[in-house]
Amino acid sequence: MQESDLKDLLSKMSTSEKINQLLQLSANFYEGTADLVSGPRQSLGIDEQDVKEAGSVLMAVGARTIIDLQKRNLKDKVRPIPQLFMADIIHGCRTIFPIPLAQGCTFNPKSVQEIAEVAAKEAARAGVHVVFSPMVDLIRDPRWGRVMESTGEDPFLNSVLAKATIKGYQGENIGGKDKVAVCVKHFAAYGSPLGGREYGSVDISEIELQNAYLPAYKAGVDAGAKLIMTSFNTLNGLPMTCNKYMISEILKKKWGFEGLVISDWGAMRELVVHGVAADKKEAAFLSFDSGIDVDMVTDCYTNNLEQLVNEEKIKMSEIDKSVYRVLKLKNELGLFENPFKDADETYDRAPQINQVNRKIARKVTTESFVLLKNDGILPLPKQMNEKIKKIAFIGPYVDEKEICSAWAFFNNNTENITLKEGVLNKKVAIKTYFEPGCDRLAYREKLVGMRKNHINELSKAELSELENRAIEVAKKSDVVVLAIGEHYDYSGEAGSRTSIGIPEHQLELFRKIYRVNTNIIVLSFSGRPLDLREISQKARAILQVWLPGTEGGNAIADVLFGNHSPSGKLAMSFPYNVGQVPIYYNELTTGRPINEVNREQRFCSRYIDAPNQPLYPFGFGLSYGQFDYSKIQLDAHELTSDSKIDVKVVVTNVGNYTGQEVVQLYVHDQIASIARPVRELKGFKKIALQPGESETVVFQIEEEMLKFYNSKGKHEAETGKFDIFIGPDSQTHNKETIYFKKTS
Ligand code: GLC
Repeated sequence: MQESDLKDLLSKMSTSEKINQLLQLSANFYEGTADLVSGPRQSLGIDEQDVKEAGSVLMAVGARTIIDLQKRNLKDKVRPIPQLFMADIIHGCRTIFPIPLAQGCTFNPKSVQEIAEVAAKEAARAGVHVVFSPMVDLIRDPRWGRVMESTGEDPFLNSVLAKATIKGYQGENIGGKDKVAVCVKHFAAYGSPLGGREYGSVDISEIELQNAYLPAYKAGVDAGAKLIMTSFNTLNGLPMTCNKYMISEILKKKWGFEGLVISDWGAMRELVVHGVAADKKEAAFLSFDSGIDVDMVTDCYTNNLEQLVNEEKIKMSEIDKSVYRVLKLKNELGLFENPFKDADETYDRAPQINQVNRKIARKVTTESFVLLKNDGILPLPKQMNEKIKKIAFIGPYVDEKEICSAWAFFNNNTENITLKEGVLNKKVAIKTYFEPGCDRLAYREKLVGMRKNHINELSKAELSELENRAIEVAKKSDVVVLAIGEHYDYSGEAGSRTSIGIPEHQLELFRKIYRVNTNIIVLSFSGRPLDLREISQKARAILQVWLPGTEGGNAIADVLFGNHSPSGKLAMSFPYNVGQVPIYYNELTTGRPINEVNREQRFCSRYIDAPNQPLYPFGFGLSYGQFDYSKIQLDAHELTSDSKIDVKVVVTNVGNYTGQEVVQLYVHDQIASIARPVRELKGFKKIALQPGESETVVFQIEEEMLKFYNSKGKHEAETGKFDIFIGPDSQTHNKETIYFKKTS
């Protein structure tokens, strides 16, 4: 539709039609009878006309469903305005990819973009127009269940991967075939709640907000995200849903965001619970005045905006602007011409998952695994040899289909490949055993999940039998592969834990297996970094496989048996224990940093009962290859505002296996107007090397890379010395120093 037609449509809409374009309802409001009266409309306090006029619907997915809903929506309407259909496509639609935290560990924007392209196609064919993804919240606290949805603790990595994801979903034009609009979330700083407890309050200094927490949202805006979702949390005392400074001043004015701002589920009504609004009318005013366009699943706007206009608290012209943004998005998607866009029941309900999508999933899933320890026991041979004739696969994840996260709503877990199926698909000429040994949950443990509840109903006798069988096969095998970890509903929304350990009953199984066979390879399944201390001391190898999704079993088998060398690098630190949390690599030194000299001294920044360092640091990950780094070579030591310095290293694979390495560039601002992090990731390159092969990796240092928000509120680089690190992880000592002189 032409812009003039859109404006003409707007001018003809009634007040009710306009205000209800700003209402988003969940799919359950439309289930049941065709006259739309079923569902919880009474409990929400809205009427049948509101349901009919709602501008968008969330969590309806499926070509048939959405085509039917859209037909009902358009039927008998004076002005047939198509509805937008939005959904939580977080890491895949029917083909489920590794959780975003695992995708962060690929350090591979191309792979992340490819994942989004497949997810966009499957979602679009299922009738979806907007995905509530990517979540770009910076995370530093693995007690929080939603760390699984983020790509990690680093602003630069999160920004690069956010742009790649958005490009994959939106392409060059969201109206194009198999493209969807993106809703970046959750603005802002939702990832650092008090105590790691879900929905907790967030208090962060302006400088920390600007330098660490906001860059990835800004990257999303710069990458052309069409929507931004505000977060549930208060930020420095003010709920984000009515945070005018952040929404209107920063997001819209400073960053120039012109898309739609949508509140999170029920968050507008929660302003009353936060104690900043006396009632839903005040909540509506505060939210609208702050810049929220769409009200997700409350009646605040529907039942109050017209009255607020009549009381001259808000202007109808402002409502028109919000409504126009909704209509404009629908128009960009081409919905006025084709309200069903790419909905395609044949593709959507194909009897099998698309094989091309499976192939992509298998490839990128192998890239998401992080090899945390390996004394050489991996890769396993594909046929018997003098040392290995029998392998026992033990653990509750050995033949478990539920290997996606709590945010995989629209797939069918029966289509997932389990570890056992993946191993059997390999047809290795080795005797293999498969025994669960225990349940994911402890005896009689009940778990309230995001969508369904879980309980371990096995009797003590049955559990004892499982354990005995596992110990028996461990005794007679040469190697044990132990597949253990968190239930998928231990993470995700409202999945906060005070412990980040492997569930105790599974650790107990590990100890009993260890007593009969010390050749243990641990596969760790989880939605968060776990406390792997005990495992790390006893296992011969540890592969962090996260929640690997549809092709999980095949991808794990590919890595275990050497078809692929693991190449993942941690996107989030693995703490030594939960007492260190929040822990992240890019911290400040403090005035009394611990170091080799004062290690025994009391009066320095340290714990008396644990190390300062995490068990496994950001950027860490082993490979079957072994990579040597040369010293850093610089083509100059002096940098100015209009020059660049090439810094390079030669990386050599001195191992016996081909492998990929993520070469990482870190920068440390030695002296500045505020204390600066000990180092910050400013570049990375993923290379593949055959045994004996070398590659020169070059990074360019320039002023832009050195900029930060300082105490004057300016985003600028300051003259002085900068340490440059290039290495395999965030703890590398491979360093050179340059001098930057600000000349403009
Ligand atoms: C949830 C989540 C948000 C999600 C939205 C819609 O509460 O916070 O991430 O996109 O509601 O389901």
